[in-house]
Amino acid sequence: LSILFAASEAAPFAKEGGLGDVVGALPKYLSRMGHDARVVIPRYYSVNREKFDLRPLPGTLVVPMGIMGNQYCSVLEGRLPGSDVPIYFLEHEGYYGRAGLYQQDGEGYLDNDNRFVFLSKAALELCKMLDFRPDVVHAHDWHTGAIPVLLNTSYLHDRLVGDAAALLTLHNMQHQGNFYPGLMEVLGIGWKHFNYLEMEKDDQVNLLKGGIYHATLLNTVSAGYAREIQTPEFGWGLEGVVRDRGRDLHGILNGVDYEEWNPASDRFIAAHYSARTVKKGKAACKRDLQETMGLPQRDDVPLLGVVSRMVKQKGTDLLAEAIHRILEMDLQFVMVGNGEPWSHFYFGDIAAQYPEKFACLIGYNEALAHKVEAGSDFFVMPSAFEPCGLNQMYSLAYGTPPIVRATGGLEDSVENFDEETLTGTGFKFWSHSAQALFDTVGWAVYTYYNNPQGLAALRKNGMAQRFTWDDAALKYEELYRKAIKLRRGAEY
Ligand code: ADP
Ligand code: GLC
Repeated sequence: LSILFAASEAAPFAKEGGLGDVVGALPKYLSRMGHDARVVIPRYYSVNREKFDLRPLPGTLVVPMGIMGNQYCSVLEGRLPGSDVPIYFLEHEGYYGRAGLYQQDGEGYLDNDNRFVFLSKAALELCKMLDFRPDVVHAHDWHTGAIPVLLNTSYLHDRLVGDAAALLTLHNMQHQGNFYPGLMEVLGIGWKHFNYLEMEKDDQVNLLKGGIYHATLLNTVSAGYAREIQTPEFGWGLEGVVRDRGRDLHGILNGVDYEEWNPASDRFIAAHYSARTVKKGKAACKRDLQETMGLPQRDDVPLLGVVSRMVKQKGTDLLAEAIHRILEMDLQFVMVGNGEPWSHFYFGDIAAQYPEKFACLIGYNEALAHKVEAGSDFFVMPSAFEPCGLNQMYSLAYGTPPIVRATGGLEDSVENFDEETLTGTGFKFWSHSAQALFDTVGWAVYTYYNNPQGLAALRKNGMAQRFTWDDAALKYEELYRKAIKLRRGAEY
């Protein structure tokens, strides 16, 4: 099959969260199965042209932006590392010539509407430049939510993409791409599509809604989240349109790129280890992490780690509420993250108040993310909602039992510890409260001090888990084939 991935992120080129991990990994595994998978993303300033040896393609892409007229951009080509999967970068100075992907200092860019409508259209125009005929265009979240809409409207009779099926993967329903109605004139598909079934929500254009309505098939990144988003608590106002497409909605749990996240070969950590050598290996990584973060090098206290975007979704507010009480226990805590500005000040203050116990790095740091996974005894993820979540899976692979709120992918990928049978892979709580988080951290800390056999079992059980992209890629292949059948048999 020929598959074009269109997205706003792809690791390691440009990434803010798990979406980048998925788009950077899944195409590689599809390509190894024999498919022609390709990727297109914007070329933000943070994408390093020299480091990745990106080459310009000849020619210029002409992208019709409705009332704004034609926009032009050049295209750079590279490869996803460790594969021959082509990745194309749209180089448009006006839209993408900035440091951030979506925002700066917590403020979303004011022209995100045009930036991502452009991405959606340019992805389809790119097929012409390459003379590439995709069987499926695989769109991700609201940024490319316009693609399924375009494929059903202005591109319906296009020579190359006209009969391509559209799969839309929902990684996060909270962010929907809600913009002023005039965006319809930029989309250029006619006002008749601005109705409450398709593109309109609360008098605005909602790109995600349009994508959900028009996609040939849909999927979320865990089965649990596919059920959840059909309810008001998790649907963020789109639960109705999701329910209407319920028959076409699937759940495929993300995989882990074990070439990147493997304690036996990780290039960022102080000592390599396997399940057999986990105790010794983790002890060395813990010392290294303590040193890096400026904490006392003690091997007799539990070290808890967080790597996260610091936003409500991730339970940053719960952690802020519980942290003083958590730090009354004999433990250490490291945090790597950035997000809502209040949290930077708040946790910066905590670090100043508890220099022996708490250390944080505000910012994005790939190497440190790996060191935290390897050097922590427990990994904390108190998410309000979690479509899949990758960090808990990385934690399992690194023998670092996760402490999670059981929602979405966290519910699906972590099994609660059972002290009787010594089964399970982590510590779960259900109530969305600081108290429940505190109690569960207490349980993990208690286990560390009083139940070494339990801790060893948790590590071993976690490290035996496998969430492979090979499995996930097979499921995507099945979905693509189903979508192609539907599309080619369908009348629009
Ligand atoms: P989400 O996509 O909702 O942020 P995931 O758990 O799916 O959550 O993926 C988060 C990804 O982003 C992981 O690969 C994690 O290591 C990475 N990440 C998040 N914050 C940081 C940070 N501050 N520094 C380095 N990596 C980070
Ligand atoms: C989103 C979700 C996260 C998921 C990631 C990759 O960012 O918040 O749970 O793991 O997408 O699918």
